[in-house]
Amino acid sequence: MKIIIDTPEAIARAAAQRYVELLGRKPDAVLGYATGSTPLGLYAELARLCKAGELSFARATTFNLDEYIGLDGTNDQSYRYFMDKNLFDLIDIPKENTNVPCGLDMTDEKAAEYDRRIEAAGGIDLQLLGIGNNGHIGFNEPGTPFGSITHTMHLTESTIQANSRFFASAADVPTSAVTMGIKTVMNARSILFIALGSVKAEIVKKMLCGPVTEEVPASVLQLHPDVEVYLDPAAAALL
Ligand code: GLP
Repeated sequence: MKIIIDTPEAIARAAAQRYVELLGRKPDAVLGYATGSTPLGLYAELARLCKAGELSFARATTFNLDEYIGLDGTNDQSYRYFMDKNLFDLIDIPKENTNVPCGLDMTDEKAAEYDRRIEAAGGIDLQLLGIGNNGHIGFNEPGTPFGSITHTMHLTESTIQANSRFFASAADVPTSAVTMGIKTVMNARSILFIALGSVKAEIVKKMLCGPVTEEVPASVLQLHPDVEVYLDPAAAALL
């Protein structure tokens, strides 16, 4: 595991170079994407590089980590909408190459199909991850088995509260989600992890320095052979 501590701006630039390098070497790479506020700087940088002609996603395929159950892709709180607005509409990727789990009529049987689609595409080359305040990756809440594949998940009260900042009120936050499983994430060939801000300092310390336990889902990354962890000084403050 490689740990890089830098400013959010420098992190966005350095992380974007991973995509320049990967897509330069493998234009049809399979990319795993994440939502939340953390990747926004990186997404802006990817859009800038693409517009400048330094990066092309024309042959890439993407798979997003998760989606709220009950939200259609046209809902402005859905992760499909978030990805279109903050990345896909700003780069040269054909929309049909972008995959976000469907939040409607979702069951665990249908969710498992997402793993088969990832496998059929050749597996994820580079998976981007943020972290929830309770250690979740994707929407894999504490206690999710490390062997899990894409599945549905009831969100914890702390996640609903944390994510309510994007909604009118906590009552508007969906109470469940569909998410790649821990095994799905761990199957990615490389992982690019970003955490920013003092609110993440405590959980980053547990993830990197604590025991590998299903109670801290992100701690499983200690077992992955190729992880780059990008932290700003505030998120790294307790290391
Ligand atoms: C959501 C997403 C996670 C993300 C987390 C942190 O719960 N499902 O993938 O890592 O939010 O969000 P933020 O980056 O806004 O702190």
